[in-house]
Amino acid sequence: MDLIAQAAAVRLNAYAPYSRFKVGAALISSDGNLYLGCNVENVAYPEGTCAEAGAIAAMIAAGDNRIAEVAVIADSPAPVPPCGGCRQKLAEFADGDVVVTMATTDGATLRMTVAGLLPGRFDASHMDNA
Ligand code: THU
Repeated sequence: MDLIAQAAAVRLNAYAPYSRFKVGAALISSDGNLYLGCNVENVAYPEGTCAEAGAIAAMIAAGDNRIAEVAVIADSPAPVPPCGGCRQKLAEFADGDVVVTMATTDGATLRMTVAGLLPGRFDASHMDNA
């Protein structure tokens, strides 16, 4: 199964009763392992946890820490870009040239790099004077 299909499959497990907007994410680590995530909302924090954050958490919990490729999918008029917080999380674990494929359940796709999604990102070098 390709990465978009993996993201589409896990999207079905999303818990999104507040937004009713289900998102699935799949990533391959540099070691070649597959990690999946879906958004999980709750009544106190209805924005919940994003699908991308879920996939990253699964990767870290498994002892892996570098991302080679990512796919995100939702039922949306246009491919949904990762939120700002997820862009920073992706940039933490992926080189700038890593491709993020955004997809809709209708089959539209948009491919961008992690650096393209978060130009001028904050990184550890900005704390060099600390
Ligand atoms: N969401 C994601 O899971 N990933 C994104 O890239 C955009 C937004 C989720 C969070 C929340 O559960 C719902 O979509 C609406 O914001």
